[in-house]
Amino acid sequence: MMITAYFWLFTLSFYCHLFVTSSRHKPISTHNYSAFPDEFKFGVGTSAYQNEGAWNTSGKSPNIWDFSTHNQPEKILDRSNADITCDGYNKLEEDIELIAQLKVHCYRFSVSWTRLFPMGYVTTVNPDGVRYYNKVIDLVLAKNITPMITMYHWDLPQSLQNLGGWANPKLANIFVEYADRLFALFGDRVKVWTTFNEPSHICKNAYNGFSAPYLSEDGIGTYLCGHTLLRAHGKTYRLYQRKYKKTQGGSIGIAAETDWYEPLNASSVADRRSVRDYMEMNFGWFVHPIYSKTGDYSPVMRKRIDFVSRAQNFTHSRLPRFTKQEIKEIRGSYDYLGLNHYTTFLLTAAGQNVPATPSYASDANVLLSQDRLWELTGWENFVVVPEGIRYLLHYIGQRYGYDIPISITENGYAGAASEDINDDNRIKYMNGYIQQVLQAINEGSNVVSYIYWTLMDNFEWSRGYTLKFGLYHVDFLSANRTRTPKKSAKVFQNIVVTKQVDNTFDPVEFVH
Ligand code: NOJ
Repeated sequence: MMITAYFWLFTLSFYCHLFVTSSRHKPISTHNYSAFPDEFKFGVGTSAYQNEGAWNTSGKSPNIWDFSTHNQPEKILDRSNADITCDGYNKLEEDIELIAQLKVHCYRFSVSWTRLFPMGYVTTVNPDGVRYYNKVIDLVLAKNITPMITMYHWDLPQSLQNLGGWANPKLANIFVEYADRLFALFGDRVKVWTTFNEPSHICKNAYNGFSAPYLSEDGIGTYLCGHTLLRAHGKTYRLYQRKYKKTQGGSIGIAAETDWYEPLNASSVADRRSVRDYMEMNFGWFVHPIYSKTGDYSPVMRKRIDFVSRAQNFTHSRLPRFTKQEIKEIRGSYDYLGLNHYTTFLLTAAGQNVPATPSYASDANVLLSQDRLWELTGWENFVVVPEGIRYLLHYIGQRYGYDIPISITENGYAGAASEDINDDNRIKYMNGYIQQVLQAINEGSNVVSYIYWTLMDNFEWSRGYTLKFGLYHVDFLSANRTRTPKKSAKVFQNIVVTKQVDNTFDPVEFVH
């Protein structure tokens, strides 16, 4: 996640933004659960590049993060990489124990494409990769925990990047072949699949200097990339329906990310319109084609990018067009919606109607800010606004339908590098957000699961090891990468077991 702000400003607001907005979100039905329903699932998440290490072990080839951290170390705040990171590859048994200790119902992890298929293509399977993920799945299942696989958590094979990466339309079919092999290898035991993690992050940040592979062509490559991801997602979903659904019976979704946005000035029509339009340009970029009743790109997005492209003398819109067949294939290609959410921003229009050079940010044309009264975390933009998640859940219900099952695939607190194991701020964040999720459910939202991000401190992409999101502390200075439960791990265990948030709960030990 990253700010896509055109400019950044801080606001000391005199408006009670959230209060004003909340009145727009009328509950459609009411339950009165004081605890999460029995069928509700809690889990924790990790990703291959951030946790596994073993970057070149037993046949694994480099992905774009291996390549860029080795070749452009200056791109990472502390010049680090994830060659070893938590050493999760070598500490599998121990880590599954840590997960089980939390008493969670599910474990969300991603598979490393180049550990399984070093060429990028499925022509060559790496037996060690298959062995490793079989072991992950079997150990998780042995603990009675449901494995959830993310197929793509940002680590594209470098060999495929050499062909243009996601801007190359051919990658859609290459991804489908990869997905097909994943279903064939693991689908007998894995029943919950996510195609792409944070597709808008993948495409925005690859072209704006924030994430590997650190390309230019912002506002052009950005949409070519998004187009390929959407086509790949739709085709993967259809393939599963045709070939595996009957025998494997699993479910498939995408994990889309969004912050919540409030108008900077709640009584300004222009600011409210900015919020509405930005939701279409950002969250709607991937969610509208898949989850709306009409499919295709959101008309707001289509109109804006077509208009700006024309004004910039492009002969074609920088936002590609789907064929009719593709629109159909992509529309409705889901069993659930994965939602990654962390924080809230205020929005106002940037007012630059036709920017001279193309970029995603200038197409979006908004100024992002945050209220100085909002509580800070270790990451300057990840402020704590628990109500934001509830308003977002209602936005999704109202915009796309309350019937869509939502899995909160990520939500978590960004601790500073200096954070110790008495992480009371994380506990406050977690209690606040989870309580709001329960309230949203009581108000008619169809949330089926909540996955805390993340199991343990790990490599936080361009921020290296300077931020800590984990329930377990990892000592990156010890060869053993010693893991120690933070206070929040015990609080989360209590939430999982009791299905309730208890602000007075004071943990000493894990409950056995
Ligand atoms: C987004 C990503 O999915 C995850 O990899 C990252 O660590 C967290 N959110 C926090 O930035």
